[in-house]
Amino acid sequence: MLRIKVPATSANLCVGFDVLGLALSLFNEFTFEKSDEFSFYGFEDEFLTIDNNLVYDSYKYTFEKIGMKLVPVRIGFKGEIPVSRGLGSSSSLIVAGVFAANYFMGKPLTKNQLFDITVELEGHPDNVAPAIYGSLVASYKYEDNYYPNIYKVSKDLDFITVTPPFHLSTHEARKVLPESLSYKEIVNNTSRIVNIPRAFELGDVNMIRRLFIDSMHEPYRSKLIPTYNEIKEICDKAKVAFAISGSGSTMLIILKKDQKKATLIKNKLKKFNYDVKLLKVSSGVKLEEI
Ligand code: HSE
Repeated sequence: MLRIKVPATSANLCVGFDVLGLALSLFNEFTFEKSDEFSFYGFEDEFLTIDNNLVYDSYKYTFEKIGMKLVPVRIGFKGEIPVSRGLGSSSSLIVAGVFAANYFMGKPLTKNQLFDITVELEGHPDNVAPAIYGSLVASYKYEDNYYPNIYKVSKDLDFITVTPPFHLSTHEARKVLPESLSYKEIVNNTSRIVNIPRAFELGDVNMIRRLFIDSMHEPYRSKLIPTYNEIKEICDKAKVAFAISGSGSTMLIILKKDQKKATLIKNKLKKFNYDVKLLKVSSGVKLEEI
């Protein structure tokens, strides 16, 4: 039996729209066992069928891409990552399906080829790249392929995810974005994105705060999260970094490891009744034969 553990991801990191992503220590776990036919367990009822299961779709797509005969498996699921909340839950299903397919085909594909397939399926490299490579990843496209660069993240950084009870679909959250940007706005983001890896490597929260001023998506998407301004104000006062995670609705707080400060912030967030988690940076997908 194969077990695959995929971390949650926080895409964009404020100014790195569609480019940067971070792996976080919250996991979805999948098991794959050869069988006579496809079957599922552990998923919500509506996903217990080949007609509506993203792990199955991604698994099948990968076999078809390579032109190999589909190997039926029983797929198990145990999930920690909130669904449709900007923490890469669907990326985790895609990564698991694609990596499992590669395993049962006898591993014909490299990690980078698997990355390309997951981007084809997911649409955005910033969500799937950290799920695969871990840490902080910046991706770019050249011709038909995506290339990841992986950066170190200081162990001194802690991450708090603040997840409201409502979904925000990426599709809807992209509809509110403008058609074009001015040179000034582009320079704002390029000057900041290029410095993000250094700030994360140093664990310099003040630098991250100075860099987290976005012109590409946050000004538009913040309106979709009614409590955004109030939570941002709490973070500004506490001198910690704050951004929307992916396309929301989760918000990401970045702070120096400091139990007291983390508890203080968590207490201030209590009144919203949101799901609040204190996380660390994570490594990427792990496959294990059990
Ligand atoms: N970069 C993408 C976006 C990630 O913000 O729309 C969403 O999955």
